[in-house]
Amino acid sequence: MSTAPAAPSATFVIFGALGDLTRRLLVPALVNLARSSLLDPDTELLGISHHDGDDEHLREELDDFVKDDACWQRVRPHVRYLKGDFTDAATFAALKKHVKGNAIFYLATAPGFFGSIVERLGDAGLLDQADGFRRVVIEKPFGTDLASARALNAQILARASEDQIYRIDHFLGKETVQNIMVTRFGNTMLEAVWNNRYVDHVQITAAEAVTIGSRGKFYDATGALRDMVPNHLFQLLAMIGMEPPISFDAEAIRTEKGKVIAAITPIDPAEAIRGRYAAGTVAGKPVPAYRDEPDVDPASRTETFAALKVHVETWRWSGVPFYLRTGKALAARDTEIVIQFKEVPLALFRETVVDRLPPDRLVLQIQPDEGISLEFVVKRPGPVVNTAPVTMDFRYEDHFEIGHQNGYETLLYDVLTGDQTLFQRADQIEGGWRAVQPLLDMWEQGTPEEYPAGSAGPESADALMHRAHRRWHHLG
Ligand code: BG6
Repeated sequence: MSTAPAAPSATFVIFGALGDLTRRLLVPALVNLARSSLLDPDTELLGISHHDGDDEHLREELDDFVKDDACWQRVRPHVRYLKGDFTDAATFAALKKHVKGNAIFYLATAPGFFGSIVERLGDAGLLDQADGFRRVVIEKPFGTDLASARALNAQILARASEDQIYRIDHFLGKETVQNIMVTRFGNTMLEAVWNNRYVDHVQITAAEAVTIGSRGKFYDATGALRDMVPNHLFQLLAMIGMEPPISFDAEAIRTEKGKVIAAITPIDPAEAIRGRYAAGTVAGKPVPAYRDEPDVDPASRTETFAALKVHVETWRWSGVPFYLRTGKALAARDTEIVIQFKEVPLALFRETVVDRLPPDRLVLQIQPDEGISLEFVVKRPGPVVNTAPVTMDFRYEDHFEIGHQNGYETLLYDVLTGDQTLFQRADQIEGGWRAVQPLLDMWEQGTPEEYPAGSAGPESADALMHRAHRRWHHLG
């Protein structure tokens, strides 16, 4: 990134200036951009929130997160504060006085404000691009189901054009996620076997050891499926499943990814498992049952784990299931994609002691310990033909300097430079919700199966694999 030019100067407006996202991720990421000379020194940061305060108060609030940093000291004087209610036209009239030329409007607010803020920005003429670009960044969750996502897209697109809208999926800011495309399309040997002739199935896992922590209120209304699947996991699936785009141009890539998401058949509830953590131990520490967590309804039916079998009906993937799993309070933090290849015909080995060969697997490790490994079979030394599985391992940190970035740097730089590649287009968002809608409907009823905190999830998730003579890749 450091060889890239600095982004154009702009006013960076953050709705939700005192929130966790702003303090923990957005401002530190902007400071990291400044450190790499990727932020124009004239960039103004304007935080809006309904709390009393002034410029200095906001700066002090941010100090704790980027303290004692020479770059922060350069950015700090450019931080300003505007007190205002997001639903009040007066806030937008005041904002208009601050904003001239290029501007980014970052909605780091509760999702209920997304649509109305865009409407008010539009009504105030703040989205008019006569004097410079005007772009809106929208955090997740973008809707809570297909109908609400459609309504939100319609509301937003009534005031702004699609090329002004940047729907964030922070997974796409991760370096290893971006690398999937280069690994796939930069290596002939991989692309040649990347299809239903050679691939048996794909597993996409986003396992977390953490519990829901202090997010009980949000999480209990959301659940693992909404929180992770139609956005993060489907984006990973689209990276694996897409056809080669005609260029690295944003629209070319988004079009190919959109086609994969459109080709996901609505999930069959019979092929989906939901779980909820019971009391247990994670990394040696006791964890309470989900229903005993703060701000969680003791009668909650919200799932903290989901596993699904997904079918992508394209020429390339027809017949190759994608198994997705995600959950909280699991045995380990592990985000990975496993491409499992078909077994070889055993005929050649019939006169030997080998009665089964483990399948070859390519594992793209996204976090932690980013890397790529290939599991394959070799001959065991000795006079008879026998085999052993081995692993070839590549770890990023052994070859490259991995800076202290939080993943938002790339995304914010892209917003400032107008590159929409890593942002979700309206059709992708709606396609994701359309695919999971049958499950959302079904899971209104019934309750999730319990799994002990610190385990690999509910037993039925294993059974989903065993039914097809498959097994999950181990966690961690
Ligand atoms: C967020 C979810 O979008 O992603 C969280 O709301 C989850 O529940 C997080 O913990 C995972 O992101 P990361 O980058 O920590 O893997």
